[in-house]
Amino acid sequence: MAKETLTIVDNRTGKSYEIPIKEETIRATDLRQIKVHPDDFGLMTYDPAFMNTAACRSAITFIDGDKGILEYRGYPIDQLAERSSYLETAWLLLHGELPSKSQLEEWKHDVTYHTFINENLKSLLDAFRYNAHPMGKLIATLAALGTFYPEAKNIFDVEGREKQITRLVAKMITIAAFGYRHMMGQPYSYPDNELSYTGNFLNMMYKTTEVKYQPPPALERALDVLFILHADHEQNCSANAMRAVGSSHVDPYSAVAAAAAALYGPLHGGANEEVIRMLSEIGSVKNVKAFIDKVKAGEGVRLMGFGHRVYKNYDPRARIIKKVAYEVFEITGKSPLLDIALELEKIALEDDYFVKRKLYPNVDFYSGLIYQAMKFPMDMFPVLFAIPRVSGWLAQWQEMLNDPDQKIARPRQIFVGARKRDYVPMEKRR
Ligand code: ACO
Repeated sequence: MAKETLTIVDNRTGKSYEIPIKEETIRATDLRQIKVHPDDFGLMTYDPAFMNTAACRSAITFIDGDKGILEYRGYPIDQLAERSSYLETAWLLLHGELPSKSQLEEWKHDVTYHTFINENLKSLLDAFRYNAHPMGKLIATLAALGTFYPEAKNIFDVEGREKQITRLVAKMITIAAFGYRHMMGQPYSYPDNELSYTGNFLNMMYKTTEVKYQPPPALERALDVLFILHADHEQNCSANAMRAVGSSHVDPYSAVAAAAAALYGPLHGGANEEVIRMLSEIGSVKNVKAFIDKVKAGEGVRLMGFGHRVYKNYDPRARIIKKVAYEVFEITGKSPLLDIALELEKIALEDDYFVKRKLYPNVDFYSGLIYQAMKFPMDMFPVLFAIPRVSGWLAQWQEMLNDPDQKIARPRQIFVGARKRDYVPMEKRR
């Protein structure tokens, strides 16, 4: 009978090693026994950017990048986008099961009643220049938020942890909206406990002189769907940052601030902003072909919103988002950039360069167009990504804390620098 093992022959020594295979994986530490001399460190794997290294076992999000499948806790993303709400999905990610009616009611209530933030945080925001990027403000405010809850350091107190999770999910919309109002020079609009999560967010963003803000139901729902689609995506750059920083046992606010910083980069959550910049630069459908040629020529130009480390097929989220885009445009009017995006997608999906490299639209290709139609300024796009992703980060963080296999994240290196040499006095240096 076939054995679930891998036999490795070290041709330096002629020795053979049998290593167990479990879950289609070998343990990197099993390679450490492979040595030439007894005092050698032992064989390591070199895997910059974790291209083929599983850093954890996870039961949260499943992706099959070749088939274009995305499931949260086993539930297909399209079913959740159609039938769930963001807060229900957040609960699912955090707890592993869909909530009962009473659990959902309690969760919604608790999140709603934790949306207020300490007034001192307003002074923190006021310290920023009017044109400060909202992601910079979000990252700083998240880190500062933790200082109001020193008990958050007790990360193994399960009940306390639940409270911090509720606070973080709840206060994200307030911090995000306050950051926007600060940018616009407008007075802060406080949470309204009678509104839904996304309705409340729109209220804090856009309420002006009306006594009660009524969020447009179609936009409220569209935003909720976008939040569902962005809630988690297994071991992406920011989830990895959350786990790595959290592995030092720091409080969740500091770890979430670090994860948000990772999300800010243009290769991650910043890509939707870059898509709009790219579409605006292209300017017209007739310039699309020339732009594609520039991308293919490898002149350092990438087709933003295309390609993914994991998806080598159409990103299932992009398919749903494209549909939501049309629903939003029915209310807001069509974005003038939509035709350019459609033409880009059409040409790229047929072009050999993109087909060969399996480059398909990712979640960011259309999300920026929706955000723009909903009157969010471009700088707010990564913030809109961060709001729902906080539930994914926290689910990943909890799983890491409960996993006996996990320790402080601490990779190895292959040292390639100079070894011991004597200090050279200044007058002798060339
Ligand atoms: N446009 C043009 N060519 C591309 C693109 C793109 N968007 N993405 C990848 N390629 C090419 C690369 O040049 C490379 O070609 P080569 O083999 O001839 O050198 C090949 O495809 C493989 O690309 P890698 O960079 O090795 O792929 P990797 O998995 O490291 O990168 C990434 C994934 C960062 C997402 C990349 O596709 C990219 O930069 N896309 C644009 C930015 C973007 O949309 N990011 C959002 C990702 S989704 C998210 O974070 C929510």
